[in-house]
Amino acid sequence: MTEMRPVTDPATDPATDATPVKTPTLPDAQTVTFVKHWTDRLFSFRVTRPASLRFRSGEFVMIGLMGDPDPRTGKQKPLLRAYSIASPSWDEELEFYSIKVPDGPLTSRLQHIEPGDEIILRPKPVGTLVHDALLPGKRIWLFATGTGIAPFASLLRDPQTYEDYDEVILTHTCRQVEELQYGRELIDSIRSDEMLEELIGEGFADKLRYYPTTTREDSPKMGRITDLMRKGEVFEDLGVAPINPDSDRAMVCGNLAFNLEIKDMLEAYGLEEGANSKPAQYVVEKAFLD
Ligand code: A2P
Repeated sequence: MTEMRPVTDPATDPATDATPVKTPTLPDAQTVTFVKHWTDRLFSFRVTRPASLRFRSGEFVMIGLMGDPDPRTGKQKPLLRAYSIASPSWDEELEFYSIKVPDGPLTSRLQHIEPGDEIILRPKPVGTLVHDALLPGKRIWLFATGTGIAPFASLLRDPQTYEDYDEVILTHTCRQVEELQYGRELIDSIRSDEMLEELIGEGFADKLRYYPTTTREDSPKMGRITDLMRKGEVFEDLGVAPINPDSDRAMVCGNLAFNLEIKDMLEAYGLEEGANSKPAQYVVEKAFLD
């Protein structure tokens, strides 16, 4: 069996090789409708949305493929990982943005999906990067590194984000310039989104500020967002006041070291961590890597 095998293929008995043992019914199957490879490390894809699936923008679900058959029993088990939904809650389809981990058990195979293939999607959305986990505020910061931009791609396309805040600031730090492209196109598409403009009102796009930075390749703004905040450069560049707990709210999604570091910084600014059960001033979620 190769990795390109459609996940619905019948399992074959390794003893006789040709004898179909049982056709596993793929549980919670959804069909891939679109795949885009952004770099050799990053891709995004869209799948059909289960009719019954309701979720809040910013939440994640478990998705995956059937694992390889057990050499002894021929049985297959689902191989699932948590993925933030990158599409907004009103979208007919579901979008995901993923890294390709060379030896990752799931992404080494998932990166080969094509339109028409099926994936498994457990329709139980959860997560803390939701508006419900934050107290009302004037300005919201969305801090992302790498594929951590995915839940923000959902929230930034949700009218509630602009209804709840006067200013919405997305920072995205990646190693290389090409890794920023998904975010750039997202921002461009939001700024020219007629439906959002109709819903929220003319000029809504002026509320949205975008602050991309790179750390390992030259670009107009270089450096880790954490360092740029410490130096005050972010606030100067954007022409905004530094973060304060009365007006600012924040959501954080990136690699573990980044999440921990920025969490400490937000606490030092006086913000407290919130949760669904106890809304406060900031929330954190780790990017879900293989
Ligand atoms: P750096 O290149 O300096 O490590 P990754 O691809 O490894 O997940 O990293 C994504 C981005 O997050 C990179 O630009 C990386 O910068 C940055 N990053 C990693 N750790 C931190 C941290 N503790 N604080 C801020 N940014 C970080």
